[in-house]
Amino acid sequence: MFGKRTASSGEPSQSVPTKPAAPAVAATEAVAPPVPKPRAAAPLPPKPKPKAKAPEPPSPAKAKVKSSARIEERSEEFYRTKTDVFNALIDTIDLSQLAQLDQESAREEIRDIVIEIISIKNVVMSIAEQETLLEDICNDVLGYGPLEPLLARDDIADIMINGANTTYIEVNGKIERTNIRFRDNGQLMNICQRIVSQVGRRVDESSPICDARLADGSRVNVIAPPLAIDGPTLTIRKFKKDKLTIKNLVEFNSISPAGAEILRVIGTARCNVLISGGTGSGKTTLLNCLTAFIQPGERVITCEDAAELQLQQPHVVRLETRPPNLEGSGKVTMTDLVKNCLRMRPDRIIVGEVRGPEAFDLLQAMNTGHDGSMGTLHANSPREALSRVESMITMGGFSLPQRTIREMIVGSIDVVVQASRLRDGSRKIVSVSEVMGLEGDVIVTQDVLRYEIDGEDENGKLIGRHRGTGVGRPRFWERAKYYNLEGDLAKAIDDLEAEG
Ligand SMILES: Nc1ncnc2c1ncn2[C@@H]1O[C@H](COP(=O)(O)OP(=O)(O)OP(=O)(O)O)[C@@H](O)[C@H]1O
Ligand SMILES: [Mg+2]
Repeated sequence: MFGKRTASSGEPSQSVPTKPAAPAVAATEAVAPPVPKPRAAAPLPPKPKPKAKAPEPPSPAKAKVKSSARIEERSEEFYRTKTDVFNALIDTIDLSQLAQLDQESAREEIRDIVIEIISIKNVVMSIAEQETLLEDICNDVLGYGPLEPLLARDDIADIMINGANTTYIEVNGKIERTNIRFRDNGQLMNICQRIVSQVGRRVDESSPICDARLADGSRVNVIAPPLAIDGPTLTIRKFKKDKLTIKNLVEFNSISPAGAEILRVIGTARCNVLISGGTGSGKTTLLNCLTAFIQPGERVITCEDAAELQLQQPHVVRLETRPPNLEGSGKVTMTDLVKNCLRMRPDRIIVGEVRGPEAFDLLQAMNTGHDGSMGTLHANSPREALSRVESMITMGGFSLPQRTIREMIVGSIDVVVQASRLRDGSRKIVSVSEVMGLEGDVIVTQDVLRYEIDGEDENGKLIGRHRGTGVGRPRFWERAKYYNLEGDLAKAIDDLEAEG
């Protein structure tokens, strides 16, 4: 069998099946450079497996947990040894047989062979370094290589890889550089390819831009050379298993308790909501929080580019757009999805991100009995959000007079919630505004609450508060009343004034 090596032989290639001529299976490095074979002449230790002299290495499962806790420094010498051992391993093992094993057994196999190679090559390493090497090599062969320890960490929001030698992560709202690096751009490209092939896509020079999703739901974007000048660039928005709830947002001070109550009324009373904000400001998180107020009996249809939302309701249909295939056909746009939604008897339509002409269809849906629909969009203020909707419709080729478009916007959107990532890295809901109507040709909005910055503490953390703006009866009061929520709304508005 694959893992059986004769105890007397120190030469691993004698005991594992010979490498087939066929190319490596998808789960392996296709870019293994020419291989320095384990030197046959190397003095062999009396027993090939160093297990005897070393304390029992932790099980692969344990090792995995260990590596996930921290990212260790690795020296140049370590990288050189790793390349050497890795090449020897690739030359030794039968990749097609390895692919047949489950992850745990495959890891066990690789560990055994790597330990033999280390022993044969007389590599001098501490036990800790050897463990790191084993873990790295297992990750390279079976997983996403140097990415693995980052993927295993739950505190990272984004992973940004700009070519083989530069990796940044976002932790607690702040971007920091890590010591993670790839062997070369070839290895990085190979990992990108491996990721996108999981969802049936391809990334190479002829189609250098690709969106994908990891098995855990993390959103992935790859842009490869020649478009990315300094090497393959991979951006991952890490999927949070435990999505933030509105309660968490209150705990993090992203919204005040009274502000959260107002959002609850807005969500439950089926206001049509746009969530606006910059990149990574927390729009999708907020949308997900608002969907928690949807009643279990409602039929909800979500349309996203890469499914990120996690609705808890029982009656949800999730739709995803599709890029064109290699021949350039088969593309399904957000507009196609939103249009199709209307034929699916939705109670509410949720659009992950409104970016183009689908804005028109979403507004129409909001206008025609699908109230309580929601979407996010990139904009820096509520006013900018509304004008972006207008330009999306104009650019979508709808030859409607400007006033008609504005009337449509005013008639459809009730509330714009603005999210922002502030300079101290914290994410806040900076305003909740309602769309009041048209005055002349101008859309009038009114803030119900606003986050105001009062100063900064000694650690650079911003100090501020969510304050009411003195609006006693927002425009959605009647809606709240219809849903029997006017008492809750009145109390929340009072509390908001008191909090401020
Ligand atoms: N209020 C918050 N407090 C702390 N972390 C938050 C908050 N809101 C969102 N996050 C975290 O910030 C990251 C980005 O959030 P999210 O995906 O919601 O942003 P986004 O605005 O939708 O980004 P994009 O523009 O890329 O779609 C996620 O890791 C999320 O868990
Ligand atoms: Mg988003």
